Amino acid sequence: MAEFAPVKYAAVGCGGMGRRHLRGFGTLHHSSARSMELVACVDTNLEAAKFYAGEARDLYGLGVHPFASVAEMKAAMPEVEAVDVTTDTGSHHRAVMACLEADLHVLCEKPLAITTGACDLVIAEAARRGKVLSVAENFRRDPINRLIRALIDDGAIGEPRLMIETTIGGADRIVITPWRHMKHTGAITVDEGVHHADILRYYLGEVETIYGETRLHEKVRHNTRSAGPGGFYAQYVNAFPDTIEPTGEDAIYAHLRFERGTVAHWVNDHAGHGRGQSGRFVYGGKGSIDSPGDRNGRPVVLHLTGQAPISGEAILDLAPSYHLAPLAAELFGGDRVWTFDFEFNVTDAKIMALELHELATCIRTGATPEIDGEEGRRDVALTYAPFESGRLGRAVTLDEVLQASHGPAYAYQGEIDRQIGLL
Ligand SMILES: NC(=O)c1ccc[n+]([C@@H]2O[C@H](COP(=O)([O-])OP(=O)(O)OC[C@H]3O[C@@H](n4cnc5c(N)ncnc54)[C@H](O)[C@@H]3O)[C@@H](O)[C@H]2O)c1
Repeated sequence: MAEFAPVKYAAVGCGGMGRRHLRGFGTLHHSSARSMELVACVDTNLEAAKFYAGEARDLYGLGVHPFASVAEMKAAMPEVEAVDVTTDTGSHHRAVMACLEADLHVLCEKPLAITTGACDLVIAEAARRGKVLSVAENFRRDPINRLIRALIDDGAIGEPRLMIETTIGGADRIVITPWRHMKHTGAITVDEGVHHADILRYYLGEVETIYGETRLHEKVRHNTRSAGPGGFYAQYVNAFPDTIEPTGEDAIYAHLRFERGTVAHWVNDHAGHGRGQSGRFVYGGKGSIDSPGDRNGRPVVLHLTGQAPISGEAILDLAPSYHLAPLAAELFGGDRVWTFDFEFNVTDAKIMALELHELATCIRTGATPEIDGEEGRRDVALTYAPFESGRLGRAVTLDEVLQASHGPAYAYQGEIDRQIGLL
């Protein structure tokens, strides 16, 4: 499929998500695209880089060279053109800047950076150097979310009036890693919440105003030694402390108004006790859409006034514009799939293969990534908007938050920027 020479790249960050991206590379490697060639890996913890290189050898027979810094890697392997950054959220801006300074194109895990101001830094540097900067936001790339977007765009439910986006659970457990509970390293509401900010914007377009409040409910969290998503964290959890004292908020409660007039209720509560919930619903003038969630391949359910629910293949008749890109169609079994049934890790790897392939395509053809720096920055700004609204005790506009430290809605993020030395 690829009509260009594969892009030689290095993985930067060899923890849980880095190893999931390695499986994404494996999927791409076994597809017709083969548009990327993994040749090196970098982690400030050299042992993690060596472990990753061992997995790359065992899984795919690759000779991947491990390094402890991007500068060392680039000096030893000047042929490397790009990087796939999966370091922890608080270090994204530092890791991405190091890569850009080494003249490398960048795919970076979400969120693009820890604050809107940190996003501005990396966006400016990528533009100055003429490098591709792409964000590995995976939820919207799930074919089921592509289908829902087409249903909305094609008018299946009429003009959208209301979206409800809810995540509740977590209680007082450490969610995946301790750093996800600290304000300056990417609190869980930011690290996980940004996925939902992106989905809200992906479905319904730009957000105009946000009223919100945030909370830090759980003052102590406990290590339950959970293996985390896909089981990739099992080898790290014994090194985590038994308890931690979080500094980052664990709940967002927000009301949004989109430019098109739609409103949304958004709850991202990682301190929920009792019955956990995740739900995503869009209501319009003719009906509603129940989303099955992300990366599970279950069918969408469409409810139209006065009709029986539609959840089978017939749903495609209401989404004529729905077509997946060629590699997505190859990996998911057709360009208009309405359901799929793969294990989580298989689906996860397919989506990451799409992210890597998009990076290669942008480098070789000059195309713009779907989630470029600006799109990633807007997701980060929307994620923090309820924090800034809560501080001000009023609704904020997304534009106010996008002004970062130059605007009136940056008190919360300004504290982070000061703590990490950006202000
Ligand atoms: N899209 C998703 O579904 C999803 C899921 C999980 C994690 N993530 C994202 O992936 C990123 C990593 O998360 P994780 O769970 O793998 O974290 P992790 O703590 O398991 O791994 C991070 C790794 O980065 C290394 N590192 C830190 N700073 C570095 C630097 N400057 N250069 C090189 N290596 C450095 C650490 O030593 C560690 O090995 C986060 O941004 C997170 O939001 C995304």
